[in-house]
Amino acid sequence: MSKKIILGISSSIAAYKAIELTRLFVRDGYSVHHVVTENAMHLVTPLTLETLSGNPVYSQSFVRDNRMMGHIALKEDAALMVVAPATANIIGKFANGIADDLLSTTFMSVICPVVIAPAMNPNMWNHIPVQENIKRLKSWGVTFVDPDHGEVACGDTGYGKLAEIEKIFEVSVHAIKG
Ligand SMILES: Cc1cc2nc3c(=O)[nH]c(=O)nc-3n(C[C@H](O)[C@H](O)[C@H](O)COP(=O)(O)O)c2cc1C
Repeated sequence: MSKKIILGISSSIAAYKAIELTRLFVRDGYSVHHVVTENAMHLVTPLTLETLSGNPVYSQSFVRDNRMMGHIALKEDAALMVVAPATANIIGKFANGIADDLLSTTFMSVICPVVIAPAMNPNMWNHIPVQENIKRLKSWGVTFVDPDHGEVACGDTGYGKLAEIEKIFEVSVHAIKG
């Protein structure tokens, strides 16, 4: 069984929590390959992720190293793609067939199960387009780890707080094992 996980990180303030998720996967013997949106690169450093995973972090589609056809190379034999945290923006791209960066292109090219853990302001979470996009992705078989209720970084309270990392980890492992 493949132990390769694609861990997508988009630019939620909760992006730093993906570091702990990486640690849990690595501890259990998974090989973690990060795909980080360019916006999320402001919030987590590739050096931290690479040090924990032992693998290069992918962010840009257009790089001058021809050995790295990012979206093609990463999909090979992945057991799972998990996106944590997932912004309203990346969920919208996934749900509408937009593939204008490496993470959305990777989503469109994988055939493995996909787990998405959203994180956003409660008003964003409740917004109709976000909920409709999630409904659509669920109907395609994508698994969601719904956000928790609580206070989010901006001080608002409601649903939108990234689910507990242990829960995202458990749902991910379950999705791999079927
Ligand atoms: C500090 C900061 C925190 C943000 N946190 C979130 C968030 O938790 N959830 C979200 O959907 N957008 C959040 N945003 C807005 C996204 O970063 C923005 O929509 C961005 O275009 C998404 O890009 P990406 O999906 O390619 O990473 C935040 C922006 C900033 C500047």
